[in-house]
Amino acid sequence: MARFLLSAADLAYRAARPLVFTMDAQAAHDLFVRVMRVGDSAGIFPAMARVMRRAVESGTAPVTAGGVSLPSTVMIAAGLVKGDGFADEDAALRAVEAGRNIIPGWRLMPALCGAVEFGSYTRWPRLGNPGRVIWRDAGARSTQNRVGLKNPGARAAAAFLAAHKQDLPDVFGLNVAVSPGVADPAQERDEAAEAFSFFVAAGLTPAWFTLNVSCPNTEDDPRGHQTRDRTRALCQAVGAVIGGHGPLWLKISPDLGDAQLAALVETCAETGVRALVTTNTLGQPAPSDPSLTAGVGGGRLHPAALDTCQRIAHLRDQTDAPLDIIGCGGALDGAAAHDFMQAGASAVQLYSALIYRGLLAASIVSHELDLQAKLHQDA
Ligand SMILES: Cc1cc2nc3c(=O)[nH]c(=O)nc-3n(C[C@H](O)[C@H](O)[C@H](O)COP(=O)(O)O)c2cc1C
Repeated sequence: MARFLLSAADLAYRAARPLVFTMDAQAAHDLFVRVMRVGDSAGIFPAMARVMRRAVESGTAPVTAGGVSLPSTVMIAAGLVKGDGFADEDAALRAVEAGRNIIPGWRLMPALCGAVEFGSYTRWPRLGNPGRVIWRDAGARSTQNRVGLKNPGARAAAAFLAAHKQDLPDVFGLNVAVSPGVADPAQERDEAAEAFSFFVAAGLTPAWFTLNVSCPNTEDDPRGHQTRDRTRALCQAVGAVIGGHGPLWLKISPDLGDAQLAALVETCAETGVRALVTTNTLGQPAPSDPSLTAGVGGGRLHPAALDTCQRIAHLRDQTDAPLDIIGCGGALDGAAAHDFMQAGASAVQLYSALIYRGLLAASIVSHELDLQAKLHQDA
C-alpha cells in the first residue's frame, strides 16, 4: 500500500514538475513559503499531512543515529523550516507576541515529512542577502542558494516554538549557526552558546541540536570556523549549555582537507559531539554574479559530500568515539542515499530532493533506500 501511494506521488510530481519549473527557483520557493504558512494553520492541513505520512511511512524502519531514535533513515535537512528574516530582535519578539507565524512550515512539514531539522538560527536575527538568492540547475538536479542565514534570531525562534510547545512534533532537530562576521573567537563561542541557551531555557525538547559552522553564504569563509581551536571552544561551550537536553551534532563543509577533518573528528571525540552532518552546501560563484558565493546542493554536491563522509568514516573508525555520520548532499534517490550508508553514514538528510522529487521526497527516498539495501543483500 505504502509503495503504491509513493509511486503514485512520485509519478504525479514527475508530471507536475515541468509546470512547477516554469517558475524560476526563487518564485517557486517564495510561493512554497506562503503555502507552508497557510498549511500550518491549525486544523485540516496538518491533520491531512499526518494521515498521508502514516500511510506512506508504514514499513519504514526506525533507526538510531547520533544518539537519537529516528522514525526513518531519511529526514529533512536544515534551511527549509527556519523562519522569516528580521532586522532586529525587538521586531521579531513583537511579531511573536502579536501571534504571527514567524516559522512557516513548523507544523505542516514535520506532519508531512517526519523528522525535520529546524533552523539555522543565529544569536541575532538576520534579513539574509538581498536580491535573488535561490537558483536551480535542473540538468544536474542541483540547487544553489545564498539565502545568507535569514532567520528571526534564536531568542524569538525559541519564544515562538515555546508558545506552540504542545503542537511541536515528537522528533525534530534544532540547528544554530555561528554568528556571521564575528572575528573574535570568544564572542563567536559566547553568542553560539547563548543562542542554544534560549531554546533550553524555553523548555524545548528537540531530539537533537546541531551546531552549523559551515554556511558558505555569508561574509565569512566557513573553513575559518572549522579549525581545531575554534570548534573545540564552540563545542565545549555549547555542550555545557545543552547538557543532558539532547545530543549535539556538528554540520561541516564539503571542501575540507584531510588535516582539518582529522582535527574535527578528534574534537568531536573530545567534546562529546554525537554526529557529524556531512555536509552543508559547497560555496561556488553565484549564477547572477560570479563575485558572490552561493552554496551548491543536490547532484553537483553529491561527490564532495560523499567523499567527506567516506574520509570522516575512515577517521572515526580509528577512534572509539561514539560518533555517527549523517550523510547530506545530493541524496536525490535511493541509490545516492545508499552511497552514504555504504560510506558509513547512519542516517541521511535531504533538501534538494524536495525540489526534484516533491514533498514526499523523504519517504520516497527512504523506500528506494530499502529496495537498494535488499538488492545489495541479494547480490
Ligand atoms: C535554500 C537553502 C537554504 C539552506 N539553509 C540552511 C541553513 O540555514 N542551515 C543549514 O545548516 N543548512 C542549510 N542549507 C543546506 C542544507 O541543509 C543541506 O546541507 C544542503 O542543501 C545539501 O543537501 P541537498 O543536496 O539535499 O540539498 C540550505 C540549503 C538550501 C538549498
